[in-house]
Amino acid sequence: MPSTPTPTLPCVRVLATGGTIAGAQTSGSRGYQAAAFSIDTLVAAVPQLAALARLEVEQIAAIGSQDMDEAVWLKLATRAQAALAEPGIAGVVVTHGTDTMEETGYFLNLVVRSEKPVVLVGAMRPATEISADGPMNLYNAVAVAAHPAARGRGVLIVANDEIHFAREVAKTNTTQVGTFKSTHRGLAGLVNAGRLHLYAPPVRRHTAASEFSVGEANALPRVSILYAYAGMGRELIDAAVQSGARGLVVAGVGDGNLNAPALAACADAVRHGVIVVRSSRTGGGVVERNIEVDDDRLGLLVAEELNPQKARVLLMLGLTRTADPRVLQEMFFTY
Ligand code: SIN
Repeated sequence: MPSTPTPTLPCVRVLATGGTIAGAQTSGSRGYQAAAFSIDTLVAAVPQLAALARLEVEQIAAIGSQDMDEAVWLKLATRAQAALAEPGIAGVVVTHGTDTMEETGYFLNLVVRSEKPVVLVGAMRPATEISADGPMNLYNAVAVAAHPAARGRGVLIVANDEIHFAREVAKTNTTQVGTFKSTHRGLAGLVNAGRLHLYAPPVRRHTAASEFSVGEANALPRVSILYAYAGMGRELIDAAVQSGARGLVVAGVGDGNLNAPALAACADAVRHGVIVVRSSRTGGGVVERNIEVDDDRLGLLVAEELNPQKARVLLMLGLTRTADPRVLQEMFFTY
């Protein structure tokens, strides 16, 4: 039986954007349409939520997260910030596709100024699939967002009974429910049917301590990601510069390395005033300055621990504040 919410329960605002968690299969096929169900329908499918929190819902977008973009990020961040400013709101849950969840989560981690929990949640299986993972993920996400112990830990991502820091997590598998991994600094905790087990808090600056805010970040500069490979030429780097990119993130091979033509193109981009950041396509490890590449001589920055897609988010925000490469490099060691 669904339980009736009581006014003493914490109030959580759910901001919905779509994704597979709201997906419906097309009949007789493995295919499905993301963002087919409204947030009202998703919440109604989990009556146990009423025992955890009073929910207020808002449909921000209805998209697969492959269509997530800066306009939706800014709307989402604005609505999250407004919700968190309300004294009666304990935390915010964002329903989101898993494909780009790590980027949205990291963006919110940098611009939302609040100690209150912000929790992103999605699913790998559409809502109509056998053993859909969305309902338990949503239940756990609300439990985390409603819990005072989750405050001050930055933006979190809940999936598959795990709690991840948005900064640390990456989607690592195309289809499996255990797709999210936090390889560098580990999990934020576990959540078992709504019971939280929190580990150490994050060490990098985030949310309430961030220098970024959504008000200042209302027009994000263009930053492109380029993927390195054996035999890479310079043409794509040149094209990105010619198309007006103010920043480039290169997903370099190994330790963020690039071959001679690509490095020459990056050096030319720097001479044109473009900020170039070396990250790695490996999915793990730290890209340090001046190992095989002479970053000091070429004027390049390194992403340090951030994967290319998160390095892009930080560079976009960084460029709203400064074009000074030394200041921007310091941001990669700070956030
Ligand atoms: C999406 O990111 O919207 C599709 C994939 C998913 O949600 O798991």
